Amino acid sequence: MGSKIDVRAEFPILNQSINGKPLVYLDSAASTQRPNTVLAAMDRFSKTSNANVHRGVHTLSQRATDEFEAARVTVQKFVGADDPAEIIWTKGCTESLNLVAASWGGANLQSGDEILLTNMEHHANIVPWQLIAEKAGAVVRPIPISDDCVVDLQAFRKMVNNRTKVVGIKHVCNATGVVNPVCEMAEIAKSVGAIVVADGAQALAHVPVNVKEFGVDFYAMSSHKVYGPMGVGALYGRRELLEAMPPFMGGGDMIRSVSFGKTTFNEIPNKFEPGTPNVSGVIGFAAALDWYQSVGKEEIWAYENELAQALRNALDQMPGVRTIGKCENQAPVVSFVMDDAHPHDVGTILDSHGVAIRTGHHCCMPLMERLGIPGTSRASFAVYNTNQEINVLIEALKNVVDIFSKC
Ligand code: ALA
Repeated sequence: MGSKIDVRAEFPILNQSINGKPLVYLDSAASTQRPNTVLAAMDRFSKTSNANVHRGVHTLSQRATDEFEAARVTVQKFVGADDPAEIIWTKGCTESLNLVAASWGGANLQSGDEILLTNMEHHANIVPWQLIAEKAGAVVRPIPISDDCVVDLQAFRKMVNNRTKVVGIKHVCNATGVVNPVCEMAEIAKSVGAIVVADGAQALAHVPVNVKEFGVDFYAMSSHKVYGPMGVGALYGRRELLEAMPPFMGGGDMIRSVSFGKTTFNEIPNKFEPGTPNVSGVIGFAAALDWYQSVGKEEIWAYENELAQALRNALDQMPGVRTIGKCENQAPVVSFVMDDAHPHDVGTILDSHGVAIRTGHHCCMPLMERLGIPGTSRASFAVYNTNQEINVLIEALKNVVDIFSKC
């Protein structure tokens, strides 16, 4: 199965059979696979440079620290931040968003304040705000969306007021691929002095990201959504805000001095990075971003969109199938519902054909409630997918229709 961009051989995991059929991996929105370059970078680090960072005067520790900090610069440049200190290593988007809600929210939210979140947010950009809102007496309100899963900007404009303190925006919707107008939304939020917290989980591997141009205050990232390892990610935060925020967690390396009388804290980014970090994960994350850029962001975007559009067109021809979510320049995520088959049944039958998709609410229960559906079946693309895989998916879906038409 040849991909137009010839990278498939770099992903050994794809070369296997599942249930006796060649694996067709269409679940990259959940986790992308990792190319050999990323695996090799992590392996090399473990074999040649593994040591704790920021703690040793010995050569190996210095080497590990240098690589660790170089990776921070890679992420900083990738997202267009001014300063590497504005990049905090975390376990991924979920931890990044929890950090902002607990630390910034804990220090700044007061009774009656409003937190506006798009109705399509992932649970990771809803629940942390609910937790802190409850403590502060603040209110969480959904920003309305259309039936196509597009933010209603007019309604949003009407909602913002001097009580609005936080606006949470998912840059790209994991459930539908809809790309949100982050710049416009940030501008509206700024008009009332609210901070803007963007969830970049699905954006990094597909759309251009520039936190300065977007005008966001925080931007959350996960490495495993962009060809890197799991369990590592980052938070971009505007320097001025990060410096004023209290620590999120306590421990080694985040302090300047500790005594039982008084503890003082380190500068950013260390203030937010207690304990031994996932150093080889960070190395893998940076290697993944380098690899992605070396293949060509724009070429990848064009190719993935060609695939996603081909699938949308094919699904439009299938009776009883409806795609969910629509916008211009949609990311390569294709969500659909079938009249007669529950998404979980669809996923199970596809698996018997070797096809891996995600089914269910995609951690977006409020979105599903808004759309009046229990969940969707979701095929999501990455650069290693091929047109032939779409044909396999369509044939497998015909099998789903056959099975359910007999029920
Ligand atoms: N949030 C990830 C997804 O959309 C796990 O599948």
